[in-house]
Amino acid sequence: MAKKLYVVGNWKMHKTARESTDYIEALLSKVKTSQINIYLAVPFTSIAAAALYAKDTNIVVGAQNMNDAREGAFTGEIAGLMLKEAGAAFVLLGHSERRHSFQEGDALIHRKVLRALQDDIQPILCIGETAKERDAKKTEEVIQKQLLSALQDVPKENLKDLLVAYEPVWAIGTGKTPTPKEIQAMHAFCRECLATILGKQAGSIPILYGGSVKSENVADIVAERDVNGVLVGGASLDSKIFAAIIQNIAGATKASKPRRKRGKK
Ligand code: PGA
Repeated sequence: MAKKLYVVGNWKMHKTARESTDYIEALLSKVKTSQINIYLAVPFTSIAAAALYAKDTNIVVGAQNMNDAREGAFTGEIAGLMLKEAGAAFVLLGHSERRHSFQEGDALIHRKVLRALQDDIQPILCIGETAKERDAKKTEEVIQKQLLSALQDVPKENLKDLLVAYEPVWAIGTGKTPTPKEIQAMHAFCRECLATILGKQAGSIPILYGGSVKSENVADIVAERDVNGVLVGGASLDSKIFAAIIQNIAGATKASKPRRKRGKK
C-alpha cells in the first residue's frame, strides 16, 4: 500500500475570509485526488469561513498559532477552544517565524503542544535549525533538543494526533533546499529521536518537510522513505501552484515504494 501523504499550506498573514473561500473553490476545481490529506493553515479571521466552505471536502482547515492557556487575561491572544469552535482542526506550533520573530522558546512550545492535545486540536510541531547552527554542525543537537523539549510528558494516548514538520530555517522562503537525500537523513534522525522520547508508537508519527517546496521539487522530496508530506509557505498562496504541488505528490505516491516497517531493515 502506498504511504498516505500530507500537504499543508501555510498562508501566514495572507488572505481575507473572502479570498480564502475563493481560493478553496478554485483549488477544489483543480484537484482531483482524494489520496492526499490537504491541510490549510489560514489566518484566524479566515478560519470560520474557510472551514464552512471546506466542509464535506477533503480539505482540512487549521490555525497558525494559539496560546498555551485555556483562557484568561491575555489581551490579543487566541485560545485553542476558540479556534476549535471556529472550525480549526489543527494548529501549527513552533513555526520558525514564531520562534524567531516572536521569541517563542522551547518551554512555551511544549505548553502549547500539551494544550492543543488537551483541547483536541491536532498539533503540527515545527522544528528546524538556523543557518548558523547548521554551519556550526549543530543540526542534530538542535533538532533533538527541540523535539525533546516539546514532547516530553506528552500523554501517549494522544500521539496518534501529532504531526512533526522538519523545516530548516535557512530553507524557509529562500529558494534553498537540502537535497532529497539530506532530507531523508534528517527525517530518519527525527524518527530515531521520536522513538527515544515516545517509544514504539513514534514510528507512525508523520514527519513532513518544509522550506522552499515547489511543484518542481516536491515529487523527489516525498519519494523519500521517511517523508510523509510537505509544509508549503509561499507556493501555497496561489491555488494553481498549490494544485500542481498536490498533483505532483499524487504522481509520486503512485510511483514510490511503500515505507518499510521499522525494525525490518
Ligand atoms: P516556504 O515556507 O515554503 O515559503 O519556504 C515554508 C514555511 O514557512 O512553513
